[in-house]
Amino acid sequence: MLNTQGRPTRAGEAQSAASTATFTGNRGLDIEEAPLFEIGRADATGVDIDEPKPFVSRLGALERRAPIGLAGLTEPEAMRHYVRLSQKNYAIDAGIYPLGSCTMKHNPRLNEKMARLSGFADIHPFQPFSTVQGALELIETLANALLVMTGMSAIAMSPKAGAHGELCGMMAIKAAIEARGEEKTRKVVLVPDSAHGTNPATAATLGFSVRAVPANDQGVVPASAVRAALSPDVAAIMLTNPNTCGLFETDIVGVAAAVREAGAYFYCDGANFNAIVGKTKPGELGVDAMHINLHKTFSTPHGGGGPGAGPVVLSERLAPFAPVPCVVRHGDGLVLREHEEGGRSFGRLTAFHGQMGMFVRALAFILSHGADGLKQASEDAVLSANYIRACLNDLMSSPFGDRPCMHEALFDDRWLKETGISTLDFAKAMIDEGFHPPTVYFPLVVHGAMLIEPTESESKASLDLFIMTLRDLAMKALRGERDSFLAAPSLAPRRRLDETRAARQPILKWTKPAPA
Ligand SMILES: Cc1ncc(COP(=O)(O)O)c(C=O)c1O
Repeated sequence: MLNTQGRPTRAGEAQSAASTATFTGNRGLDIEEAPLFEIGRADATGVDIDEPKPFVSRLGALERRAPIGLAGLTEPEAMRHYVRLSQKNYAIDAGIYPLGSCTMKHNPRLNEKMARLSGFADIHPFQPFSTVQGALELIETLANALLVMTGMSAIAMSPKAGAHGELCGMMAIKAAIEARGEEKTRKVVLVPDSAHGTNPATAATLGFSVRAVPANDQGVVPASAVRAALSPDVAAIMLTNPNTCGLFETDIVGVAAAVREAGAYFYCDGANFNAIVGKTKPGELGVDAMHINLHKTFSTPHGGGGPGAGPVVLSERLAPFAPVPCVVRHGDGLVLREHEEGGRSFGRLTAFHGQMGMFVRALAFILSHGADGLKQASEDAVLSANYIRACLNDLMSSPFGDRPCMHEALFDDRWLKETGISTLDFAKAMIDEGFHPPTVYFPLVVHGAMLIEPTESESKASLDLFIMTLRDLAMKALRGERDSFLAAPSLAPRRRLDETRAARQPILKWTKPAPA
């Protein structure tokens, strides 16, 4: 197997067993691509730079004595390398991306067009306020829209992701507890055992210890369980609604009342807000702080770790502790309030105001949908998930029975028990059928979980193809066709990784391959 420069590839070698026997190792127009360091040559470059004029180096002993052998490519080679790699990516623009808890929805092109307007794309955080009034007004308009949708009192726009929003909201709670002089006594945060890992991690980062609260056999946290876990040392509860099992927390008002009576605060993880926009307001449910992942509910692009945006809405009692910087009115215009100025804010959270490009996209999404459109989007997301659930329920098992879900359909692996096939095998087989697998093995409280979130983006035809494919795979599994599942994926650019080895012996550094 040769690389694009006609040399053997290491990736190609790894591929060999299952490879199609082409001379190049390519499969049709799916071109094998080796790492840059292997295809590059130290003597190749995409630019001509004149030799520098003689000069006296001031590097002393630090001066390089030998070439370091960085891989070089010509401009067309560099272009092709990165384009080929990008073509191996899976994306929402390529097909359904049913990753539960991630809300991978279509990113409308209108949003992209707006974000590229030079008045938004080309501004700099250090520009004088008088030159960025439009941008500040956009942030304020988005902030107000989020406050209306959530029914909350204040908002911090600067957090850069959901997890960062959790940190922000919990810092506001910590500041409120300190203001009450209870920081030495209230050291515990209640977290349901179905929570996303970032919840306990956030609490622990801020020095709280975590106390687990069990859900009941219906998959929700009853107020009685919260009451049993509450004590004078509890600072807050972090509860996700709709929860990570795709269910609305039916006792949420009772939970909020119990937490408040105990002198604690209610942090709501709003990652799943997409299911309830326009239907209910967290502020009316008794929530004190909640992050909103703009990159989920409001369709700003995400993946690969960013950029995201996780504004945090706060209740009246937490509003005074909101962080700076924030946009405020000053005279006839808007400015960024950069400093605490004698108030009770917990302080500065980030250098600047947040992710401008994400704000533009989210506001474009909100304004182009309108209040009725946003509500419709939530209803469609819930309808799509229930359609999938209802169409697969006779073959696959659901942990909480045949009850309706919110925006995610959750299955467990009881139905696979006699087949010798695991949830992972099933997910890998989906790749051969051209589908990105759903989230698997999360939430941890459900054995062999498969969490499918179709979002409102999919047409009925798209959902039907997805459902028919899963039904076909499920019937193969139940017929005992185990081998094809264990071998999957066999049609993807790479076979299955040895995940145990990758976790136990990770290779984090490239080493030069031995000459062929
Ligand atoms: C329930 C839940 N909480 C928190 C987060 C963290 O959000 P982010 O990835 O934006 O940091 C996620 C992300 O998937 C989530 O699903």
